[in-house]
Amino acid sequence: MNNPTLDLIMSHSSIRQFKSDPLPVTLVETIISAAQQASSSSNLQTYSVIATTDDESRGKLADLCSNQKHIRTAPLFLTWCADLARLQHVCQMGNYIQNAEYLENFLIAAVDASIAAQTAALAAESLGLGICFIGSIRNNPREVINLLGLPPLVFPITGMTIGWPKGESKIRPRLPLQAILHWEKYDPSPYEKALVEYDQTMQQTGIYKNRQVPTPNRDGDMENYGWLEHTARRVSQVVRPGLRKEIENQGFALK
Ligand SMILES: Cc1cc2nc3c(=O)[nH]c(=O)nc-3n(C[C@H](O)[C@H](O)[C@H](O)COP(=O)(O)O)c2cc1C
Repeated sequence: MNNPTLDLIMSHSSIRQFKSDPLPVTLVETIISAAQQASSSSNLQTYSVIATTDDESRGKLADLCSNQKHIRTAPLFLTWCADLARLQHVCQMGNYIQNAEYLENFLIAAVDASIAAQTAALAAESLGLGICFIGSIRNNPREVINLLGLPPLVFPITGMTIGWPKGESKIRPRLPLQAILHWEKYDPSPYEKALVEYDQTMQQTGIYKNRQVPTPNRDGDMENYGWLEHTARRVSQVVRPGLRKEIENQGFALK
């Protein structure tokens, strides 16, 4: 089965090399308007997005996000934020007090922001642009919050580089469907076969050549380095251990 929307979705690959041409404001507004039409929990629309085009600010963001080069070279950087601050205004206008103390409140906003971001990604790709999500926006949240002037109850969830693609990019195969799709009940029995099969597929793409995750005691296993080894190394590491504190400092109690 295929149609133009499915073809677009299936041709996605993250773009990390961009031409320097700026994006017209109307184009950016079109992309964000499309993102706004995404589903949103109870239509609360608990997200905001900061568009950064200024060279110096993108340079600072790159420094804060593991010095990723494409943040400097992409003409536009979007920071998608969970945002409960706007609802403070809504409550004040009606003389209510927002109850935003629970983990659920943060999750609602983080999910809303993520869905909007992915919708923007598809909109941008439909216009011939390339995008790459930037999770490293959560590496130094306090500095990002200060740089972008985010008020309490607004927290960066993901960044996104956007621009006109330069050069070719490869589509990355995904896990076999049976590793993801469960009918009626969760069933892990196809995992082993699917994972080994996927590892072989990914090894053939050469994606992991020369980019092994350094891990103590395991650097001798390079010849079999594929998705399985890469992923196991990746998830055996501690990631952003201070994040909870930063989210709490920004006014989300996460009870
Ligand atoms: C939430 C999220 C955060 C990501 N963060 C980064 C990042 O910081 N840097 C980067 O180069 N790619 C990042 N990516 C892109 C993924 O590496 C990429 O989507 C994945 O490897 C699959 O490749 P594809 O998008 O080309 O199909 C991120 C993707 C997501 C969804």
